[in-house]
Amino acid sequence: MNNFQYYNPVRIVFGEGQIAELGKLVPDNARVLITYGGGSAKKTGTLDEVKTALQGANRTVFEFGGIEPNPEFTTLMKAVDLVHAENIDFLLAVGGGSVLDGTKFIALTATIENDADHEKAWAALKDGTANIRQALPLGTVLTIPATGSEMNKGGVINHSERHAKLAFHNDLVYPKFSVLDPAKTLTLPERQVMNGIGDAFVHVMEQYLTYPAQAKVQDGFAESLLKILMEEGRAVKARPNDMDTRKNIMWTATMALNGLIGAGVPQDWATHMIGHEITSLHGIDHARTLTIVLPAVMKELKDAKKAKIVQYGKNVLALTGSDDEIADAAIAATEAFFKELGLPIRLSDVQLDETAIEPILYQLKEHGMTAWANTKTSIWRYRNASCATPFKGSLKTV
Ligand code: NZQ
Ligand code: ZN
Repeated sequence: MNNFQYYNPVRIVFGEGQIAELGKLVPDNARVLITYGGGSAKKTGTLDEVKTALQGANRTVFEFGGIEPNPEFTTLMKAVDLVHAENIDFLLAVGGGSVLDGTKFIALTATIENDADHEKAWAALKDGTANIRQALPLGTVLTIPATGSEMNKGGVINHSERHAKLAFHNDLVYPKFSVLDPAKTLTLPERQVMNGIGDAFVHVMEQYLTYPAQAKVQDGFAESLLKILMEEGRAVKARPNDMDTRKNIMWTATMALNGLIGAGVPQDWATHMIGHEITSLHGIDHARTLTIVLPAVMKELKDAKKAKIVQYGKNVLALTGSDDEIADAAIAATEAFFKELGLPIRLSDVQLDETAIEPILYQLKEHGMTAWANTKTSIWRYRNASCATPFKGSLKTV
C-alpha cells in the first residue's frame, strides 16, 4: 500500500423524504441558484419539493435549467453569467452526474474575474482547474446513482464545438452536502438505471484492476462493491420497485468513487479516457462507452493485469481452475454481466465500426491522454501511432 492522505468533507443525507432537510442544510439568507437538467426534475416533482424545502430563512431562490447529459461548457457559462447578474452565493444542483459536474464547474469559474468571453474558463478546464483558488459553495440532490460526483471533487465537461470532453478535480468543489433519496431513482428509465450500474462497476474496476498492492482494505471493499453491483443490477432488472435494492445501488455507486477504495493503491483510468473520447465524438452515453472499452482493455492487458484479474475471478465471481482459465472466464463473465443488463460490449452494438478507431486515437493524442495503465514495473506509454497500437488492436476485436 502506498502512502496516502484521505480527505472527504461531504455530509451525506441519505434516505426517503430527506429533501425536507434542505431547509437546515442551505444557509439562511442565501441567494440560491438551483441548477437542473433537461426537465426530469420538473416532471417528477423533485424541483417543487426542493423549492418547498428552501422556503423561509430569508432565502432568495433562482433557477437554471437545461444542463445537458455530458454538460456543455457553453450552457454552463450562461449559468455563470446568471450567477454574476444575480449575486448568487450558493449553488444547489438537482439531478444526475451531469448537473452535479456542471454545477461544480459553475462554482469554480464564477470566481474568475473579467472573463466576459469565458476564454479564461476554457483555459481553466484545459488545465483541470488546477489554478482556481476559490469557488462558490454548493450542495446537491442526487436523482441518479452512477458517477459518485455527489461525494467527490471531480467533474467532466463537454465542449462540442471544440470536440473535447475534459475532466477536472478541485478540493474546493466537494459538495457541502448531498441528499441521496433512493425513492427519487424510481422514475429513471431502465436504460439510465443500468447505465448507472455499469458506470459504478467500471469506477471500481479502474481502482482495483491494476496489480497487487497488498492493500487488503481497498481490495476487500472493492470486491464487495463489485459483488453488490452484480447482485443488485440483476435484482433491479427483475424487481425495479424494490426499495432495498434501490438503496443499496445508490450507496454503492457513491462509495465506488468517493476516493476511499482508490486511496493508497495504483489506478488505471484508461477505460474512462477512451470512453470520454467516444462520447465526445459520437454522443454515446458515458456508461455505455465504458462497457464497450473495459472488456477490450482487460483482454489487451490480460498478462500485465493477470494477478488482479485472477483475484477478481476468485473473490468476486467464485471461479476455479488455472490462472489462465480463471482470467479468460472472468473477462467473459464481465461481458455477460454487461449484456444481461442490456449494456453494449462491442462498438458494433452502438452502430460503430473500426473506422471509428483512428479518430478516437487522434483525440486521445490531442488531449495528451497518451500515458495510462500503471503496472508494477512501469507505466505504459502509448505515444504516437506505434504505441497506440495495443488499444487499436483491442478495439478492433470489438
Ligand atoms: O436532464 P434530465 O431531464 O434531468 O434527464 C436526465 C438525463 O437525461 C435523466 N434523469 C436523471 N435523474 C432522473 C432522470 N430521469 C428520470 N428520473 C430521474 N430521477 O437521466 C439522464 C442522464 O443524466 P446524467 O446526469 O447525464 O447521468 P449520469 O449521472 O450518468 O452522469 C453522466 C455524466 O457524469 C460524468 C460523465 O462523464 C457524464 O458526463 N462523470 C462524472 C464523474 C465524476 N464527477 O466523478 C465520474 C464519471 O466517471 C463520469 O465521467
Ligand atoms: Zn464514469
